[in-house]
Amino acid sequence: MRVVVTGGGGFLGSHLCEALLRRGDAVVCLDDFSTGVPENVAHLLPDPAFELHRVDVSEGVDVAGQVDAVAHLASPASPPDYLRRPLETLAVGSRGTENALRLALRHGARFILASTSEIYGDPLVHPQEETYWGNVNSIGPRSVYDEAKRYAEAVSAAYHRAHDLDVGIARIFNTYGPRMRPHDGRVVSSFITQALTGEPLTIYGDGGQTRSFCYVDDMIRGLLALLDSSEMGPFNLGNPIERTVRELAETVLALTGSVSEVNHHPLPVDDPVRRRPVITRAREVLGWAPEIELTEGLSRTIAYFGARPDRLGVSAAAIRGGQGDTVLPASVSVAPQAIPAPSGVGMPSGAASEPAAANG
Ligand SMILES: NC(=O)c1ccc[n+]([C@@H]2O[C@H](COP(=O)([O-])OP(=O)(O)OC[C@H]3O[C@@H](n4cnc5c(N)ncnc54)[C@H](O)[C@@H]3O)[C@@H](O)[C@H]2O)c1
Repeated sequence: MRVVVTGGGGFLGSHLCEALLRRGDAVVCLDDFSTGVPENVAHLLPDPAFELHRVDVSEGVDVAGQVDAVAHLASPASPPDYLRRPLETLAVGSRGTENALRLALRHGARFILASTSEIYGDPLVHPQEETYWGNVNSIGPRSVYDEAKRYAEAVSAAYHRAHDLDVGIARIFNTYGPRMRPHDGRVVSSFITQALTGEPLTIYGDGGQTRSFCYVDDMIRGLLALLDSSEMGPFNLGNPIERTVRELAETVLALTGSVSEVNHHPLPVDDPVRRRPVITRAREVLGWAPEIELTEGLSRTIAYFGARPDRLGVSAAAIRGGQGDTVLPASVSVAPQAIPAPSGVGMPSGAASEPAAANG
């Protein structure tokens, strides 16, 4: 199978590219590296079954040759990223999704959409089943992401109805693991970075808000199960074990052996209070459920971060704890010229230093 992965240079996308190659598929990775980094996929470049093209999918998507499936993951995903790129986020959720859908239609390919639990907004129903329609503020700051994804689901469903396109929709809940950026503002990466560098952990509100945290390998198995099916869903993909943000902070502190303090900040606008997926549909229809325990997944992620003090913005000596038994190989740096790119696209900085916008 030859699979196009948009956003393939990002956190989830790079793991998906890797998993597809591992099982023998060919992969065409499309990314503009606005939030992803080339080193996420640099190790895949020598594989003849892997192609990488730097392209903004909101501008258009064309892939020569056979295409059997399109996995559309391109979109900023962390709150600081989409709040900094509001119009680009709306563009990739709308025009980018339409371009990816048209690509799938032209090739008669299966199309899967990386949607999000954010389409439920600040849910009035708990836990969230796929039948819940959500509670989203359509003009709040987070609406650029939430409404873009809601539109992406709507247009994907419409392509299915109007053109009989083979569509699958995954509603992804909080996922974490190696290749998150240390300063991307997501709660797991922020806590680990802060714990390893001895900075205070930033908790918004009293930390009693809940999230569910799914390890990346589990999520990739779920996305592959959806890709291989002919089911439309939507499917909630996430870990159904609910944790408070406070509990997450305590676990990270214990696993890193860090003595960082905890600082409380006011809750951001529209930050959801409770999040937990009901995954019965994914369990029964796709035969999928997460398997990796939080402490195991966090330990692997801490080892990844601990092995990259340069990306945390500190010297190796400044890392507190975290350098467990499984220190992964240092990241590969890739020369910009190794990637085919249209002119005029700048390289991103992998570790923009900015505060977390939410414990999301
Ligand atoms: N990680 C999570 O917890 C989570 C939760 C819910 C949904 N999702 C969804 O999964 C997808 C991947 O998320 P992620 O966590 O890997 O984020 P990420 O930011 O690491 O990856 C997104 C990738 O898309 C690329 N991209 C963005 N706009 C693009 C454009 N216009 N053209 C081409 N490439 C573009 C970025 O450069 C990046 O490599 C996103 O669609 C996100 O909304 C992720």
